Amino acid sequence: MAGPLAGKHIVLGVTGSIACYKALDLASKLVQAGALVDTMLTYGATRFVTPLAFRSLTHRVVVTDIFDPNSEFANEHVALARQADIVVIAPATVHCIAKLAAGLADDPLTTTVIATSAPLLVAPAMDANMFDHPATQENLAKLRGRGVIIAGPAAGRLASGLMGMGRLLETAQLLGHIAATLGRQGDLAGRTIVVSAGGTQEAIDPVRVITNHSSGKMGYALAEAARDRGARVVLVAAPTGLPDPPLVRVVRVRSAQEMAEAVFQEVKHADALIMAAAVADYRPESTAEQKIKKSSAGLSLALTRTTDILAEARGAFVKVGFAAESQDLVENARAKVRAKGLDLIVANDITDPQSGFGVDTNKVTLIDRELRAEELPVLTKYEVGQRVLDRVRELLAESGPGR
Ligand code: PMT
Repeated sequence: MAGPLAGKHIVLGVTGSIACYKALDLASKLVQAGALVDTMLTYGATRFVTPLAFRSLTHRVVVTDIFDPNSEFANEHVALARQADIVVIAPATVHCIAKLAAGLADDPLTTTVIATSAPLLVAPAMDANMFDHPATQENLAKLRGRGVIIAGPAAGRLASGLMGMGRLLETAQLLGHIAATLGRQGDLAGRTIVVSAGGTQEAIDPVRVITNHSSGKMGYALAEAARDRGARVVLVAAPTGLPDPPLVRVVRVRSAQEMAEAVFQEVKHADALIMAAAVADYRPESTAEQKIKKSSAGLSLALTRTTDILAEARGAFVKVGFAAESQDLVENARAKVRAKGLDLIVANDITDPQSGFGVDTNKVTLIDRELRAEELPVLTKYEVGQRVLDRVRELLAESGPGR
């Protein structure tokens, strides 16, 4: 397993909230991502979910009682604190947050927090009034001031029936926060990377657009991979059905022109631009103000070229393109390296069903400035992102820290 959580030692603290049931899903997804998860339940948490449920999912230690003579924790109560790569408390109740802010250590979880030097990520879950209370806000501010990462809460329907702030973040969001926290000192720390994703939409009239099959998955995976190596990431995204990746700044655009404007603005402060978007090469010469009525006659559209964003983006940044090709993959991609002045192109075979539009995997060949090609096997799009970023890191190193 090659994701950011593989082999990571995670202490998962669970405190007494109705959102405890979601912690089971988080534990399961962490294990599926290759993490080693040791769980600590407070007494309150055990009233909502059982230690057995976590043990069944994680196949590892579940600690509930600091004084249990049979527990591994009792024998060496700071061992988990020392092993942890990160301590995650999800859900964190208002009471737990107050204890953390006060530095109390009266249960296995708070004792571990005090004893560890690993980063601490706290995901609050509570009623909106509790969250808004000045005491809670002060406690959260205190924790932030100590470098604790506060993930969420989200707004929405709460268990009380009220609407407001207080929902535990969804599992996918929590996984993003955890991966980003683990990777924040990574080899792209201090770098800013602009990534584009998705297929642009060129309006024909108020109803119809010219677009393509890009789902945005490749660009989003790249953005997450860069974030998980410590980069500041700006994702310029054409319309997709994907949720915003946590801790990535997303700039939403629709047309090639909007994408061009956003990219030209963002690259002013960037170390690298990676264009994974499928940008329309042509747009209708004009957009009809009203819906075009159908008739028995055919319809011809006059099209005009869009801005070639990659070719026209200039500055002291590493420039990476993608090329989705259905024939002569390497030759066609090589021509684009020269034509667009690229440092690297990712030639994307769209004839393989495991590769290209919409799927979670991709089969690509990396081609550098000297036109040397490295063919990669079918990988997940996140892994492809990592391989592309390995090259970006090398290119940045070649050009020195001031690039
Ligand atoms: O989004 P997914 O469903 O995950 O699919 C991923 C993908 C297939 C869209 C992606 O991996 C990919 O290959 N993207 C490039 C698509 C493409 O065909 O590009 P192109 O050959 O038309 O353009 C070459 C490069 O120039 C690309 O980096 C493109 O972003 C850029 N370009 C193109 C046209 C234009 N007007 N401006 C540009 O900057």
